[in-house]
Amino acid sequence: MELTLTSLLLLSALPLSSADKVIGTYIFHRHGDRTTKSYAPVSLTPLGTEQVFASGSYYRDLYVSSAATSQIQSISPTVPKLSQISVTAPIDNVLQNSAQVFLQGLYPPAGSASAETLANGTKVQSPLGGYQYIPVNAVSTASSNTNSESNEWLQAGSGCGQAIVSSNAYFASAEYLATLASTQSFYTSLLPVINTTFPSSKASFKNAYTIFDYVHVSTIHNASIPSDDLLTPSTLHQLQTRADQHEWGLAYNASEPIRAIAGSVLAGQVLQFLNATLQSQTNASAPAPALGIQFGAYASFLAFFGLASLPTVSTNFTGIVDYASSAVFELTADDAGKAYSVRFLFANGTASAANPPTAYPLFGQDKTVLPWDDFVSGIQKFAVADTASWCKACGETTGTCATALGLTGGNGNNGSATTAGQTQGKGGLSTAVGGVIGALVTLVVILGFEALVMAVAGLRVVKKKALQGGVGGAGVSQVEPKV
Ligand SMILES: *[C@@H]1O[C@H](CO)[C@@H](O)[C@H](O)[C@H]1NC(C)=O
Ligand SMILES: *[C@@H]1O[C@H](CO)[C@@H](O)[C@H](O)[C@H]1NC(C)=O
Ligand SMILES: *[C@@H]1O[C@H](CO)[C@@H](O)[C@H](O)[C@H]1NC(C)=O
Ligand SMILES: *[C@@H]1O[C@H](CO)[C@@H](O)[C@H](O)[C@H]1NC(C)=O
Ligand SMILES: *[C@@H]1O[C@H](CO)[C@@H](O)[C@H](O)[C@H]1NC(C)=O
Ligand SMILES: *[C@@H]1O[C@H](CO)[C@@H](O)[C@H](O)[C@H]1NC(C)=O
Ligand SMILES: *[C@@H]1O[C@H](CO)[C@@H](O)[C@H](O)[C@H]1NC(C)=O
Ligand SMILES: *[C@@H]1O[C@H](CO)[C@@H](O)[C@H](O)[C@H]1NC(C)=O
Ligand SMILES: *[C@@H]1O[C@H](CO)[C@@H](O)[C@H](O)[C@H]1NC(C)=O
Repeated sequence: MELTLTSLLLLSALPLSSADKVIGTYIFHRHGDRTTKSYAPVSLTPLGTEQVFASGSYYRDLYVSSAATSQIQSISPTVPKLSQISVTAPIDNVLQNSAQVFLQGLYPPAGSASAETLANGTKVQSPLGGYQYIPVNAVSTASSNTNSESNEWLQAGSGCGQAIVSSNAYFASAEYLATLASTQSFYTSLLPVINTTFPSSKASFKNAYTIFDYVHVSTIHNASIPSDDLLTPSTLHQLQTRADQHEWGLAYNASEPIRAIAGSVLAGQVLQFLNATLQSQTNASAPAPALGIQFGAYASFLAFFGLASLPTVSTNFTGIVDYASSAVFELTADDAGKAYSVRFLFANGTASAANPPTAYPLFGQDKTVLPWDDFVSGIQKFAVADTASWCKACGETTGTCATALGLTGGNGNNGSATTAGQTQGKGGLSTAVGGVIGALVTLVVILGFEALVMAVAGLRVVKKKALQGGVGGAGVSQVEPKV
């Protein structure tokens, strides 16, 4: 289904009906400008902090402050109530810091408004002008992976065996091989620009993203790029669009939805979050936050865009999103608080009055405001919301998945379940799905603990199968020293 540009512009121009109230919002955000992935450690730059801070300020004016245009119902406007906000990011320097700075824009220092009066009458204000402290939870179940911004190839860290196999298959596709051959002279011609970092053996479409990233970062930060006369606008454009093609190929393939697992996980999180917010409207014993914020990598955007049929709206959705981009899922209620709807918006690059998020229709539909039930049925087609489903889709049966699929523990078989995996997996699945929340909590706790241990020990889990490019389900996890 193709939408004409006119009808699209018309759709995005439509304001929310004045009776509709925003009751919850989920924002998925990319980090700001950072240093190149070619030199570890990767870090958020001052320019990047400016971008995410501006975006945070924009969303404050849209959803939070008392003068906000679409203020979220009953949100605390000046001093945050931590029960109303949930902020997550994977364990990653760039993404964690981006989230922190975004929050400084969302809830700036509140001065005396956040001061307290002690028992003896003394007034105390927190440092830095009443700075507000909102925790950014480092979750291993985030849509993007631990240390995303230090990984050149994002899927490699997903831990999802089937997705890694599927992404690997891109390198054997006719499209990839044809492009690899047809662009070889282009990449070779750029060697004078990149040869301090990329040997000639690496100057090819195979490294389209890392070469683009290196040059792109250099054009922003390095005033003395060697042979920069080669970097004409058309060369820069080709570098970017080849990187787009490469990353899209790794992130999404319509015939193999598992490749887009990052988008499925994000979809599951959005659905669970908004559903909880919605339930809390009518059930006082089920309170839930109203503003969810997650920071993640561009690959999660691409994977979600593909799954949600956004490329049928515009091929723009197959391109890598700019730094500090944000995708927004807005949950609204009508006047009577009976009919709920969801609207999807996207801002490419820092959201601002000059670059506001625009509404786009999800799931190939022709409208941007979807009744709740339509949103649920659309997103459920690809959302992965619990550990057991993830393990099943990814073909993982060891570690946490063994627990989630009921392959170990409780049945006294001493953990020797590997051979009996399939049958037991089926048996355990329904129980695990029934205990979605329990499983997720367990996953967070277990993975969080593992991550902590590994962070302390300077280790990371590497999928052995993935490294060998092998075909098959469960990869064998082993711990290797970080390089
Ligand atoms: C009030 O209590 C605080 C904290 O115990 C203390 O630091 C401060 O000196 C007290 N002020 C007066 C006027 O006693
Ligand atoms: C997409 O998946 C199909 C089916 O597995 C495969 O034939 C095709 O080569 C893939 N395309 C790309 C670009 O990976
Ligand atoms: C990189 O390219 C420049 C310009 O062509 C050349 O002078 C230099 O020797 C090359 N360096 C390496 C390490 O190949
Ligand atoms: C900028 O380019 C120069 C010349 O190649 C190089 O020596 C330097 O390391 C680069 N700086 C950065 C920050 O990449
Ligand atoms: C929303 O939450 C309720 C209560 O927990 C649950 O019964 C329902 O299945 C959930 N709906 C979706 C679509 O997840
Ligand atoms: C309200 O929430 C509580 C706690 O989650 C749950 O046990 C109860 O079933 C919910 N009530 C309804 C009517 O959904
Ligand atoms: C796609 O991107 C181009 C260039 O940035 C822009 O002019 C156009 O409006 C975009 N289309 C949509 C549907 O967002
Ligand atoms: C965002 O902008 C980049 C250009 O910087 C473009 O390649 C990409 O397609 C755009 N994405 C969307 C969804 O507009
Ligand atoms: C576990 O294995 C050990 C050693 O093989 C055995 O002694 C023990 O009885 C087993 N426990 C159960 C619960 O099967």
